[in-house]
Amino acid sequence: MAQILDGLKISKEIKTEIRYDVEKIVEGKRRPPHLVAILVGQNGASIAYVNNKIKDCREVGFKSSLVKFPSTVSEAELLEKINELNLSKDVDGFIVQLPLPPQIDQEKIIMAIDPRKDVDGFHPENFGKMALEMDTFLPATPFGILTLLERYQIDTKGKHCVIIGRSRIVGKPMSILMGRKDFPGNSTVTLTHSYTPHIEEFTKNADIVITALGDPNFLKGDMIKQGAIVIDVGITRIEDQSDKGYKLVGDVDFESCKEIAGAITPVPGGVGPMTRAMLMKNTLLAYKTSVYND
Ligand code: GUN
Repeated sequence: MAQILDGLKISKEIKTEIRYDVEKIVEGKRRPPHLVAILVGQNGASIAYVNNKIKDCREVGFKSSLVKFPSTVSEAELLEKINELNLSKDVDGFIVQLPLPPQIDQEKIIMAIDPRKDVDGFHPENFGKMALEMDTFLPATPFGILTLLERYQIDTKGKHCVIIGRSRIVGKPMSILMGRKDFPGNSTVTLTHSYTPHIEEFTKNADIVITALGDPNFLKGDMIKQGAIVIDVGITRIEDQSDKGYKLVGDVDFESCKEIAGAITPVPGGVGPMTRAMLMKNTLLAYKTSVYND
């Protein structure tokens, strides 16, 4: 039976550490960090994600604001709000929840965010800094996975890490970070995607598998090698009879993989809460670099 990498537990530890930092800040008569979230439209998952981010802010003692726009918002209106947040001395970091409606050019929006307030780490300047191993905001999900590997002291040096999915939010940055000259890192990385034939030939040879494709129960026990570290980033909503009306299902078939893997993240309670905690960490970092360096 694999070791469970308990993201919920580690995320609570991280939030407690952040809360402690914020208490010291406030005791010193300084204002707390302030995160703003921009939400466009009525996407159920996006609403839930943003509400969770606001809840996390409350938990760690940050100020938070939610700015809502209808799905019909124009690109110009959104850019105007971003400009206002860029200039606001009261705002340390902000995020624009993705995806955006089709009339909005996502790249244009991300490019408009001041990189110093880009706590998602999505701006090309921050992505470039990450790739060059310079100090910057790491995207929250990859940052969460690295922190989980670090806190559980999972050996990554010289290991073969296979990543499934090449999204800008997870797969692509993860492939860069696992290959960097640091701990966790120093892995030999294979980035697989929708055009990779016979993905199981790669996953069977992997010491570490990171799945981020959004295909429920895709990775089965017979697709991994004995003792592999399995990180499940997939969170798909599947309708059921519960009060919520859905349950969250990962990319990993937990039942078959847990018998073979050396360590594994559950869904829920694995990467998801770590992602949330790392957004708080990035916001604290944005605060420290803006207020203290003024
Ligand atoms: N949509 C799904 N994940 C994320 C995220 O981490 N940040 C933003 N802004 N949008 C998302």
